[in-house]
Amino acid sequence: MNFILLAIVAYLIGSIPFGLIVGKIGYNTDIREHGSGNLGGTNTFRVLGIKAGIIVTAGDILKGTLATQLPILVGNDSVNPLIIGVFAVIGHMYPIFAKFKGGKAVATSGGIILGVSPLLFLIILLTFFIVLYITKYVSISSMVTGVITVITSIIMQDIGLIIITSILTLFVFYRHRTNIKRIINKTEPKIKWM
Ligand code: G3P
Repeated sequence: MNFILLAIVAYLIGSIPFGLIVGKIGYNTDIREHGSGNLGGTNTFRVLGIKAGIIVTAGDILKGTLATQLPILVGNDSVNPLIIGVFAVIGHMYPIFAKFKGGKAVATSGGIILGVSPLLFLIILLTFFIVLYITKYVSISSMVTGVITVITSIIMQDIGLIIITSILTLFVFYRHRTNIKRIINKTEPKIKWM
């Protein structure tokens, strides 16, 4: 399978709207009409509770991980798995199966990291929960974790990882525009379960 086909398949995998599927099938609820209106794991936790939140977050992570494994799965390891992973994140943010209104790039980006460096994934997971414990804001934890991931990639001196984590972190900041406004206006909701 060539690069373009791999990118399309990764985009379609990323487009699977787990938040919508779990909400509609399991709870007869469209999470886009509740909470922050976002299709991601955080809003699923907020609107549908812990079980649905874990399923959606795991599904969104796995989309990124699966995308990074596609080149190997189809026997074309000349294609960079990180680049294919980015197409899954684009699908997650702008899903063809959900009117192009998707998530905020966090979980699926994490899935890419899990696919290429489980150790870095552990570091970012730890960072995320430490910042969340301190601030109680998922949005701030997501953005800070993005920055820490870039810094860690620089320390690892891995140029591919530096470029891709920088792009992913820019996606994360761009998709958190409304959160940033709410943080400035002091209207961003804190989590209640930590
Ligand atoms: O991963 C998304 C999170 O950082 C913010 O989600 O629903 O609070 O806008 P939400």
